[in-house]
Amino acid sequence: MEIARVPYIPETAPFSAEQRAWLNGFLAGMFSQVPAAAGNAQPDSPRVPREPLLILFGSQTGTAESLAKRLAKESEQRGFQPVLLPLDEYEKAGLPDAKKLIIVSSTWGDGDPPENAVKFWSWLNSNEAPRFPHLDFAVLGLGDRNYSDFCGASKKFDVRLEELGGHRIIPRAECDVDYESTANRWIENLWVRLAGARSSPGAATTITNDAHLPLPARNGQNGFHVISPTQNGSTKDTLSLFGKKNPFPARLLKNIVLNKSASAKEVRHYELSLSGSDLTYEVGDALGIYATNCPQLVDDIIEACHCSGDEPVEIEGSKMLLRESLTSYFDICRPSTDLLSIIAKAAPDCGLVPLLKPERTADLKKSLWGRDILDVLRLLPSPLPPEQFVLLLRKLTPRLYSISSSPKAHTGEVHLIISTVRYESFGRARKGVASCFLADRCGENSAKVFVQKSHGFKPPREDLPMIMVGPGTGIAPFRAFLEEREATGAKGQNWLFFGDQKRSTDFLYEEQLTGWLNRGHLTHLDVAFSRDQEEKIYVQHRLVQNAPKVWSWLEEGAHFYVCGDASRMAADVDRALHQVIERAGGKTTDQAAEYVAKLKSEKRYQRDIY
Ligand SMILES: Cc1cc2nc3c(=O)[nH]c(=O)nc-3n(C[C@H](O)[C@H](O)[C@H](O)COP(=O)(O)OP(=O)(O)OC[C@H]3O[C@@H](n4cnc5c(N)ncnc54)[C@H](O)[C@@H]3O)c2cc1C
Ligand SMILES: NC(=O)c1ccc[n+]([C@@H]2O[C@H](COP(=O)([O-])OP(=O)(O)OC[C@H]3O[C@@H](n4cnc5c(N)ncnc54)[C@H](OP(=O)(O)O)[C@@H]3O)[C@@H](O)[C@H]2O)c1
Ligand SMILES: Cc1cc2nc3c(=O)[nH]c(=O)nc-3n(C[C@H](O)[C@H](O)[C@H](O)COP(=O)(O)O)c2cc1C
Repeated sequence: MEIARVPYIPETAPFSAEQRAWLNGFLAGMFSQVPAAAGNAQPDSPRVPREPLLILFGSQTGTAESLAKRLAKESEQRGFQPVLLPLDEYEKAGLPDAKKLIIVSSTWGDGDPPENAVKFWSWLNSNEAPRFPHLDFAVLGLGDRNYSDFCGASKKFDVRLEELGGHRIIPRAECDVDYESTANRWIENLWVRLAGARSSPGAATTITNDAHLPLPARNGQNGFHVISPTQNGSTKDTLSLFGKKNPFPARLLKNIVLNKSASAKEVRHYELSLSGSDLTYEVGDALGIYATNCPQLVDDIIEACHCSGDEPVEIEGSKMLLRESLTSYFDICRPSTDLLSIIAKAAPDCGLVPLLKPERTADLKKSLWGRDILDVLRLLPSPLPPEQFVLLLRKLTPRLYSISSSPKAHTGEVHLIISTVRYESFGRARKGVASCFLADRCGENSAKVFVQKSHGFKPPREDLPMIMVGPGTGIAPFRAFLEEREATGAKGQNWLFFGDQKRSTDFLYEEQLTGWLNRGHLTHLDVAFSRDQEEKIYVQHRLVQNAPKVWSWLEEGAHFYVCGDASRMAADVDRALHQVIERAGGKTTDQAAEYVAKLKSEKRYQRDIY
């Protein structure tokens, strides 16, 4: 019997050990699928058709995407044939004909779908959506209970799929920021239900290839290998020692206030060293930072609890001192609903009772604006025992920052631009946790960081033009894009729209930006200083003023990027883009909407908004 020869990639080939291992596996897989008639005399292994499982994710900063990748990997081990794609690629994924669908999605804005699920939701929620009488589906939602519409997007998907005739495999899960245990339980349940409901395996479907799609088989099975999430929760397909679960202590090298002294704002430029780590990043990625809480606030809370701080409390089965837990483990700013409920019970006249009714969520939110845990603890007639108090707190979450440097311009460093959050409320000075940790307390010590990969928020092909709209700290990724294009000598034209309050005090990176303009690296720089005249002038006004030129750049294949404030700016810029297309492109409102939808589907309209 002739033995099939699988080409072996020798040690001398220009590949890393990891790439070599992958290629060997890949080729072995390919060769094992060559039919025997073609001279490949492998032992007959009956091909068992695997049941297709569609796994679609909606994710902005990668958490839901990581979970979806994990599900895809586990499903493959359980004999399914997974197809993994962002929700917006529902057509490519063949959703209308799918039999089994798992959705993992976060929620953004105010109960809205994440960027890569917006198109999906407008389709699913429209009259054009098909009926799904043959679809079994399950939805895993990720969110944050601090937002009034908790897990709003996943809720909408779940309800609508049922309305359209789909059958729920298991009830939806809604995970708070501490998502792991809820997600794990839900996933275990899902596998149990799917194993129980498993019908005879259907025919395999064709799977298109894509950056998000499974890679070809490593092992000769008729399945697909799915890009696996790394151990650390990052979505990068390489292994790194440091990640979200094991952040790297990065030394703070520079901390510079960018505004001039009379400014109303405090935006800082930070430089952190990545040396000593194997962390790498690309422009468009974000940096996650684990900060510690303000020591003064920790002291005040300990005092409000009538404690010394040396009391032991139990956290995830281990003992920790109360002070340490309040410093680095718990969110001590935003009160949880559980804490509010306990306070409402203990102090029934404090006004919280009616606000905790489900129909008063908006009023509760309004009343909590500018108040923190210390404010509500002070409503208690007698303090809570520390071990009970900590059970009512949530975990302190890392904050994300759009990286503002190119690794090609600053080897071993990562730069950030951060607006420091400080405000006065109910007679007390309040500080944002992470922005003030970096501004005031990190000093020359280190900050615990990890890299959060972006999902396509990258400069376009080197010869294509790009239009960047980044007011305030929204400039961050565009400084990185421009540094990158300068370092690589990319030929594409670059146009930046920047805005802030006053030219004299808030023109962030003025020297670097005007230098680029003078050298022709920036083809155009349009600025909008909102408070230099009576009437506000914003970046979107500059866009509309330049409509004919913006339109001609779009027609030449320009990519259009927006970064910064999600609450108002991003929507206003979106409206301005539609206006540009209508006015300069001579389109109707509907045609402009179609044009924008096409830009999005071609990944030529990308946003990094927060
Ligand atoms: C993908 C992504 C990228 C980001 N990139 C950047 C970036 O490049 N630069 C940047 O500066 N930020 C960026 N952010 C925002 C950043 O992650 C933090 O949210 C921000 O720095 C505030 O964090 P903090 O811990 O300092 O403040 P927190 O402790 O989280 O406090 C902020 C909260 O304080 C409250 N608050 C604020 N002002 C007032 C007020 N006047 N009155 C009452 N309450 C108030 C609000 O509830 C607000 O949510 C980004 C966010 C995301 C998701
Ligand atoms: N969700 C979060 O976690 C979080 C945390 C921190 C910051 N943020 C957001 O991030 C934003 C960035 O803050 P920043 O300090 O860098 O700058 P910013 O507050 O966005 O201000 C930058 C410029 O944008 C202008 N602006 C205000 N409204 C606008 C609109 N509708 N359209 C276009 N421009 C508008 C401002 O003008 P005027 O000020 O004169 O109106 C200013 O000139 C903040 O606005 C905040 O909403 C979000
Ligand atoms: C600007 C912003 C808005 C958010 N809005 C909501 C919301 O309305 N409801 C909610 O439950 N969670 C909200 N979240 C929390 C995210 O859904 C949560 O962090 C989630 O884990 C992110 O997952 P992703 O990385 O897959 O996008 C918001 C987070 C941010 C930063």
